[in-house]
Amino acid sequence: MKGEKRIPPKNMINIEINVRPMTLDHVDKVWEIEKSCFATPWSKQSLVKELKTNALASYYVAFMNGELAGYAGMWKIVDEGHITNVAVLPKMQGLGVGSALIAQLIEDGTRSKLRALTLEVRVGNHVARSLYEKYGFKISGIRKEYYADTREDGYLMWKELEEITEF
Ligand SMILES: CC(C)(COP(=O)(O)OP(=O)(O)OC[C@H]1O[C@@H](n2cnc3c(N)ncnc32)[C@H](O)[C@@H]1OP(=O)(O)O)[C@@H](O)C(=O)NCCC(=O)NCCS
Repeated sequence: MKGEKRIPPKNMINIEINVRPMTLDHVDKVWEIEKSCFATPWSKQSLVKELKTNALASYYVAFMNGELAGYAGMWKIVDEGHITNVAVLPKMQGLGVGSALIAQLIEDGTRSKLRALTLEVRVGNHVARSLYEKYGFKISGIRKEYYADTREDGYLMWKELEEITEF
């Protein structure tokens, strides 16, 4: 399929992960993932709006063995990519889906000649922090009581992107 990217499985046999651009057809399932991952999930309308009207948005879905397993997205603002969401269906976590999605955002950002990617993550979200650190994101600051629901602090993380030279 056009725009599809195949990612090699992570230390597992019989697992195939495919990442492709998110479309309106994926919204219902992505909303289910949102609800299963977050106490204050994005609404279905917000997801639709992102795809239909936000020209800065770039969203991807990941399929594991044919099932929609996760999604991630960012806003490309001038020369920075602001990662808005990364979420994987709980039963499919720990199998490489989150890694495949972050790798896709990094590739998209690099091809779009962005200077850096940035995101916020809850201080207590050790799994997500570990994922981002694995891909070279570094903590650059703390936002006190950034999360309104629990008043938890958030780490601001950045990753500088490499320039690609095209011949
Ligand atoms: C964070 C999240 C997206 C990671 O996705 P995932 O598919 O489970 O991640 P992967 O299987 O690709 O693992 C990537 C890395 O995350 C870390 N990780 C994954 N599962 C972990 C666990 N149970 N304990 C500790 N670290 C873990 C590891 O560093 C791992 O790399 P490694 O396998 O090379 O050691 C997923 O757990 C999730 O959706 N969580 C709920 C929503 C959320 O918190 N989103 C992030 C908001 S900022």
